[in-house]
Amino acid sequence: MEYKPISKAVIARLPRYYRHLGELMEEGVERISSNDLSQRMHVTASQIRQDLNNFGGFGQQGYGYNVKYLYTEIAKIMGVDRQHNLIIIGAGNLGQAIANYANFERRGFIIKGMFDINPRLIGRVVRGVEILGVEELEKFIVDNEVQIAALTIPKTKAPEIADRLVAAGIKAIWNFAHTDLVVPDDVVVENVHLSESLMRLSYRVCSMQDQKAQKEKIEEEKALKKEKPERNAQT
Ligand code: NAI
Repeated sequence: MEYKPISKAVIARLPRYYRHLGELMEEGVERISSNDLSQRMHVTASQIRQDLNNFGGFGQQGYGYNVKYLYTEIAKIMGVDRQHNLIIIGAGNLGQAIANYANFERRGFIIKGMFDINPRLIGRVVRGVEILGVEELEKFIVDNEVQIAALTIPKTKAPEIADRLVAAGIKAIWNFAHTDLVVPDDVVVENVHLSESLMRLSYRVCSMQDQKAQKEKIEEEKALKKEKPERNAQT
C-alpha cells in the first residue's frame, strides 16, 4: 500500500470506523456499501469514500466494502495489529482504573508494569501487574521493550517523569496529567483530558439552551406585537 500524509482529522475518525466494522463482523456482515455504513455511522457516504480513499479505497464500485478486509487494513494503519508494551506511571485511582480495564489487551496494548512513589502501593498487584518503585523505571523500560507510557501522576510531577521516559527511549506518552509536555520531535504525546471533553459538552448543552431561550423570546415578542394592535383597536 502506498502511504501519503494523512490528515489528523481522518486519523481521528479511524478508531470509529474500526469499532463499527468490528461490530459488523460480530453481526456476521461480510459486505457493506458506503451508503449503509454512512447510515450506521451518521456521516455522509462521500465522507466515508473520501476517508477510505486516503488508504487506497478498499471498496469496489457497486459492490461495497469487504468488512473483514477493511477492518484488518484499518487495524494495520492504526498499528493495532501488533503488540504494544505499555507502562503506567502513577498507580493511584486513574492508573489502577486503566490497569483494570482488560479490553486494552484485546487491542494489543499489554500493560507490562506500573510505577509509583508511594511505599504503601509498591509491591501491590493490580490484575497481575506488580506496582514497582519509580526508581526502577529506566531499567524496566529497556528490559521489557516498552513503547508507550501512560502518565497518571500529578501535573507538577509530569514534566520530570516525561524527561526520564524520553531519556530511557520511550517514544509515545499517553498523558492524563493536566499539563502540556515538552518533548523532542520524535516523541508523540496523546493528551486525554476528560474535563476538557466535559467542558465541550457543557458548551454544547448551554448553547442549545441559549438558542431555545432566544427562539422562545422571539416568539413571545411576535405574539405580543400581534396582540397589541387588537387591544388598540378595542379602545
Ligand atoms: P491519585 O492521587 O489517586 O494518583 C496519583 C498517583 O501518582 C499516586 O499514587 C502518587 O503516589 C503517584 N505519584 C505522584 N508522584 C509520582 C511520581 N513522581 N512518580 C510516580 N508516581 C507518582 O490521583 P488520580 O485521581 O489517579 O489522578 C492522577 C492524575 O491524573 C492527576 O494529575 C489528575 O489530575 C489526573 N486526572 C486526569 C484525568 C483526565 O481526564 N486527564 C482524569 C482524572 C485524573
